[in-house]
Amino acid sequence: MLLGVLTALPLPNSSAVVLKTPLGISPEKAAYFIHGVIEADRTIYSQYLVDRLKETVNLDSTENWQKDKTLPLPAQFLLMASERVRSKNVGLDFRLMSLWPINPKNKPRNHQEKKGLEEVFKNPDEPYTWLQQTDNKLIFNAVYPDKAVAKRCVSCHNSHPKSSKRDFKLNDVVGGILLAFPIDQTLGENNEKIYHVPPEVVTDYIHAILEADRTVYARHVVNHLQKENVIYASENWWEENTLLLPAQFMLNASDLIRNLRLGVDYRLISLWPINPQNGAANRFERAGLESVASYPLRPYIRTTHVGDQKYFQAVYPDLAVSPSCVECHNAHPHSPKHDFKLYDVMGGVVLSVPLDHD
Ligand code: HEC
Ligand code: HEC
Repeated sequence: MLLGVLTALPLPNSSAVVLKTPLGISPEKAAYFIHGVIEADRTIYSQYLVDRLKETVNLDSTENWQKDKTLPLPAQFLLMASERVRSKNVGLDFRLMSLWPINPKNKPRNHQEKKGLEEVFKNPDEPYTWLQQTDNKLIFNAVYPDKAVAKRCVSCHNSHPKSSKRDFKLNDVVGGILLAFPIDQTLGENNEKIYHVPPEVVTDYIHAILEADRTVYARHVVNHLQKENVIYASENWWEENTLLLPAQFMLNASDLIRNLRLGVDYRLISLWPINPQNGAANRFERAGLESVASYPLRPYIRTTHVGDQKYFQAVYPDLAVSPSCVECHNAHPHSPKHDFKLYDVMGGVVLSVPLDHD
C-alpha cells in the first residue's frame, strides 16, 4: 500500500534521501507517540481552558456541561475524542479506564485490560503491553497509568457518588489510558518475529487524534459556549481571557510536544497563512500543500534524514469544514487570501515521526 502511494505521488525535489523500503515503527514507539499526543492535547485543555478560565472568569468544568453551560471535564473531552476517532475506522482505539470507574462504561472489558490496570497501579513508571490475536489481526495493546496529578482529581473522584474508591491521594494511579491498534509481523534473519507498524499508519493515527481533538473542541466547547453566550473564542485569548481558536489549541499542543522532545512533531501550515510562521518551511511542505490541494484524499509523504535520524513526514489536507473557517480567514486583515469557499483545502497538517534504525 505504501509503495503504491510513494510511486503515485511526485517525489520531493530536494536533497532528502528517499528510501524505497521505508522501515516500520515498533509498536512500543508508536504507542509512545500516540499517548504523547493525547496527553499534550489533554494538558492544553486542562491548563489553558479548565484551570485558567476557572481562575480568570470563574467558568467551571462540570459533568453536566451541556445543561450547566460549562466546559466538559477533561475525561469527557477525551471520551468524545476517542469516540470520534473510533467512528473514523482508522484502526486505532483508545479510552480511559479504571478499576473504580465513575462511569461503568470505563471499566476494563476483559481480564487482560484488568491485569493491565493492576500492573500500572503496582508499577506506574511504565506502560503495560500485550498482544492479542483476533481472527485476522494481531492487536497491540498498551495501558498507560493515569495519575491524580492535581488535587481536584482526588477531591472529585473521592467525593463522586458513583465512585467506588474514596481514598485516592495526590499522585495515585486513578486509572489508565488504553491504546489498541493492529500491527504487522515479519520474520527477521534468524526467523525471529519482528513486529512493526507502517509509518504512514502511525501518522494516520496521530492525524486522526488531532482532527478529533480539534473538532470536539470546536463543537463542544467553542460553538456550544458561544451559542449560549457564555464566552467566545478570540485570537487574543490570553489578554482577553477567552477561548483559544481551534487552530491555536492545536498550535499550542504542538509547541508542548516539541518542548517535551517526544520525537513527534506537527504544524498547521498553509500557502496563505494568517500567521507568517505557519507558511511552508521548505520545498517538501510547499509541494505537500500544493499536492493535497489537488488530491486531498491521501497525504503527501516522504522519508528524510536529519543527521543520523530518519524521519517519515506526511502532509494532510486541512479543509474548510464549517462556514466559520471561511468567514474568519476571508475577513482577517492578515490573510493573503479572501476567496476561500466551503470545503476548500485551506492548508495542511505536516506530521513528522522518527523511524527505527535498519
Ligand atoms: C469535577 C470532577 C472530576 C475531576 C476534577 C476529575 N475527574 Fe476524572 N472523571 C470524572 C467523571 C464524572 C468521570 C466519568 C466520565 C465519563 O462519563 O466517562 C471521570 C472519569 C475518569 C477516568 C475514567 C474512569 C472513570 O472513573 O470513569 C479516569 C481514569 C479519570 N477520570 C482520572 C482523572 C484524573 C487523573 C483527574 C485529574 C487530572 C480527574 N479524573 C479529574 C470526574 C472528575
Ligand atoms: C475566528 C477566526 C478563525 C476561525 C473561525 C478559523 N481560523 Fe484558522 N486561523 C485563524 C488565525 C488567527 C490563525 C493564526 C493562528 C496563529 O498562528 O497564531 C489561523 C490559522 C490557521 C491555519 C494555519 C495557517 C495560517 O493561516 O496561519 C490553518 C490551516 C487554518 N487556520 C485553518 C482553519 C480551518 C480549516 C478552520 C475551520 C475549521 C479555521 N481555520 C477556523 C483564525 C481563524
